[in-house]
Amino acid sequence: MIIAIDGPAGSGKTTTAKEVARRLGFLHLDSGALYRAFALAACRKGWADAEGAVDAQWIAGLACVDVGVEVVDGGVTALLEGSRVDDDIRTREVTACASKVSAFSQIRDRVNAVLRRLAAEYPGGVVCEGRDMGTVVFPEAELKVYMVAEPGERARRRLLQRGEAVTAERLTAESARLVARDTYDSQREASPLRKADSAMIVDTTRLSFEEQVTQIVQAAQRLDRA
Ligand code: DC
Repeated sequence: MIIAIDGPAGSGKTTTAKEVARRLGFLHLDSGALYRAFALAACRKGWADAEGAVDAQWIAGLACVDVGVEVVDGGVTALLEGSRVDDDIRTREVTACASKVSAFSQIRDRVNAVLRRLAAEYPGGVVCEGRDMGTVVFPEAELKVYMVAEPGERARRRLLQRGEAVTAERLTAESARLVARDTYDSQREASPLRKADSAMIVDTTRLSFEEQVTQIVQAAQRLDRA
């Protein structure tokens, strides 16, 4: 079984997908981590400007960078030139750049090939999450979920995740960053962020973590029994 979870930044996809995969004994695939590994390479090579934008002239080179994965604890961790980059891909600079490099189809093709190979090779099911899992990468997914949450709540979670104090000023700034990234991710030409027609919507604004996970696990179990 393939469970495809899509949605905007900070809607709770990664933590939820990880836990859903754990409960079902599936492999968790975080596609964003792969885009982030390409973005980290661009930042390290000095190909990204202050806003994280990468000029089209560097994209062919970037698409040849050695980005791979290692299966660890029921999920995958991104490798850049053979090394784990777990924390380095979570900086604000890399986050902005990931959104920019993911607009290029050469980079998307590289990421999609890795995801499809892993899903085909893994003997159990997979829970994959990102922006185009149910629409482009795994249109055949048995269960499609679209997770959303109000921007203010998403910003609050992001600040807490990074261990930053939640102040009104920070909430406004983080919320603006999230909305700007969503706008960029949903307006690009290549595989824009959008809900798959058959996806079930899970609005996590007022749901507890347990409620989010349970809704998806139960939907998967109902399908399995059908
Ligand atoms: O899910 P995330 O925040 O780690 O993703 C980082 C960026 O990567 C996001 O802004 C857009 C891009 N991305 C994408 O275009 N398609 C995906 N399937 C996953 C992520």
